[in-house]
Amino acid sequence: MAKKKLERIAEVKTFPNVSHAGAELKGQWHTIFKNGRPMTLELGCGKGDYTLALAQQHPERNYIGIDLKSARLWAAATQAMQKSLSNVFFIRANALDLTDIFAPDDIAEIWIPFPDPYPQKPRKRMTAARYLEVYKKICRPDARINVKTDDEALYEFSLATIADYGCTIHQKIAAVHADDATEELGIMTFYEKRHLAAGRSIKYIQFSLP
Ligand SMILES: C[S@@+](CC[C@H](N)C(=O)[O-])C[C@H]1O[C@@H](n2cnc3c(N)ncnc32)[C@H](O)[C@@H]1O
Repeated sequence: MAKKKLERIAEVKTFPNVSHAGAELKGQWHTIFKNGRPMTLELGCGKGDYTLALAQQHPERNYIGIDLKSARLWAAATQAMQKSLSNVFFIRANALDLTDIFAPDDIAEIWIPFPDPYPQKPRKRMTAARYLEVYKKICRPDARINVKTDDEALYEFSLATIADYGCTIHQKIAAVHADDATEELGIMTFYEKRHLAAGRSIKYIQFSLP
């Protein structure tokens, strides 16, 4: 591994806005965000493009980015500190382990922008039933879950899984155009820009759990 990456992986462990052992925070979120405001999760946040943009759009809410990769979280957390965003926090964790970190009804909203499509392993997709089961245990009943993808197979799989699970679909767009985009949907991550430049259409689903 490159030396710079190793240095970042070591350094991010010292950052005040990143946790590597999210379990210590279960039931203790008031010690991180001392305002009791709604918490939104971004799952698979990578370098945090969505979390950072949402946090700037909505200073009245709190945002938590979750990813498996420390080096990406270094980039996300560094930007949050440079922008002095006090409504942002990051956790290195597997999205399957969210019930270790959050209690029932903790989460008001979830964003999942450009999840890995896992073409050969659908059960690893963040819209697979076992993930929905986890989200149900930590979300408020009215929580909306937002998925963006360029991947046709993941889009169709998600629609089918969500329907099978008994979720309510509030919006589905097979090709998001600038006209459709709300302020939140209009946020573009590194991956979205790359997909658009390659001529791919962006798909969007918003749903809530049964
Ligand atoms: C294609 S990237 C998208 C990053 C970001 N959402 C964006 O649009 O720029 C997918 C990210 O999901 C993360 N990831 C994949 N499976 C995960 C899991 N089970 N739990 C947490 N993060 C995961 C990967 O490490 C990667 O950073």
